[in-house]
Amino acid sequence: MTEKKKLYIETYGCQMNFSDSQIVGSIMADHEFETTSEIAEADLIFVNTCSIRDHAEQRVRARLKEFNRYKKKKPGLIIGVLGCMAERLKEQLIEEEKMVDVIVGPDAYRDLPRLLNIAEGGQKAINVILSADETYADIDPVRMESNGISAFISIMRGCENFCSYCVVPYTRGKERSRDPETIVNEARSLFENGYREVTLLGQNVNSYKSDKGIDFPGLMNLVASIDPALRVRFATSHPKDLSDELLKVMAAHPNICRSIHLPVQSGSDAVLKRMNRKYTRDWYLGRIAAIKHYLPNCAISTDIIAGFCSETEEDHLETMQLMEQVGYDYAFMFKYSERPDTLAAKKYEDNIPEETKGRRLQEIIALQQKLSHKSNKADIGKTFEVLAESTSRKSANELAGRNSQNKVVVFERGEYKPGDYVQVKITSCTPATLKGVVVEGV
Ligand code: SAH
Ligand code: SF4
Ligand code: F3S
Repeated sequence: MTEKKKLYIETYGCQMNFSDSQIVGSIMADHEFETTSEIAEADLIFVNTCSIRDHAEQRVRARLKEFNRYKKKKPGLIIGVLGCMAERLKEQLIEEEKMVDVIVGPDAYRDLPRLLNIAEGGQKAINVILSADETYADIDPVRMESNGISAFISIMRGCENFCSYCVVPYTRGKERSRDPETIVNEARSLFENGYREVTLLGQNVNSYKSDKGIDFPGLMNLVASIDPALRVRFATSHPKDLSDELLKVMAAHPNICRSIHLPVQSGSDAVLKRMNRKYTRDWYLGRIAAIKHYLPNCAISTDIIAGFCSETEEDHLETMQLMEQVGYDYAFMFKYSERPDTLAAKKYEDNIPEETKGRRLQEIIALQQKLSHKSNKADIGKTFEVLAESTSRKSANELAGRNSQNKVVVFERGEYKPGDYVQVKITSCTPATLKGVVVEGV
């Protein structure tokens, strides 16, 4: 028997990229490769990359230098760059980073075995063709590093929103939706294998639309109906597509989690317009009101960009005021990073000084810290159903899990184990976690 070759894969960026790495793991497993978590024993190193901000690309370049040290010790070691950076830079990346042998864009992973053959023959190999219909629907992901309880299911790919700051429409191509039957089958099979939570993934999940006429609320209805003990989450939604119909479907299924990630980016109409977000502040607040109406106990989180082109101090204050008004439970906050060839790079000057960007971001982070803490403090005394996921990082006697609102809850383990649903009454909190005690017989 020949020993299998070993693939080490490192992933950066969003959940879609992590989900894609599992698809890559599966394609490679069909071609005599097994994955390893030990870089030193790898015959092949893949890095699945992100281009969303300059910093993300710099981290990958630093890692490539590191991988090159292994290559020098092990001639024949192949290094491949996958994902958004591969798609954005194409052959330019091979010219700039000589250690790279293979460049593969997000829609070309089926071609990996052929590309590897070329690389094994000593030549550079590249495929960055974007597809209008590739969804990898028939590929069963290898769930590496999974806790066996929660899993991601990719339901659509690509984005055509062209927010002016964003590189994703260029690196991920056209929007396309995966066949609903394959999604439902994957979710059902995960449930039958002990999983208790699935997160439906896409750059913009609520613009899901299958050839069979099923839209996102329809799909959610199908997945949530598999079993009441299977939790369903989704990420990310664009505010423009968050329909009342979706909120009604959520309200009808207690197992659809009470948590919506609704990136606002800015609280200023002038900035939103330049960002090409296609909604106004008022319109966004209307969507927040609809969430609160249909799902009174729903957590709301967001993404914010500080220091976009020509953002004034007033614009910035409007963002902070909107954050207070919505009372976000959680937020991802970033400094604007200009991306080459995007609409903003072509049309607007990146004219906010680094120092101002940094100061505004710090103010936004400090405010969110306060809001998150306030939101957690409001949970003290409440009882939540928590899906236990793992042993707590701090103590072996404690389990950590999440409630429907996606907040991390830590409690004493007792007889419980990961995968159990546990009723927990919250007794204390930090800005990041809730702590509680198990209540029996509820
Ligand atoms: N598809 C998702 C988000 C994709 S990227 C959506 O539209 O909601 C995740 C977040 O990164 C974005 O919401 C935005 O806040 C941030 N982001 C994207 N491009 C950026 C840039 N050029 N500079 C800084 N942050 C950016
Ligand atoms: Fe980027 Fe906008 Fe698409 Fe999100 S919706 S991926 S921010 S272009
Ligand atoms: Fe990054 Fe590409 Fe995701 S740019 S955020 S890995 S879609």
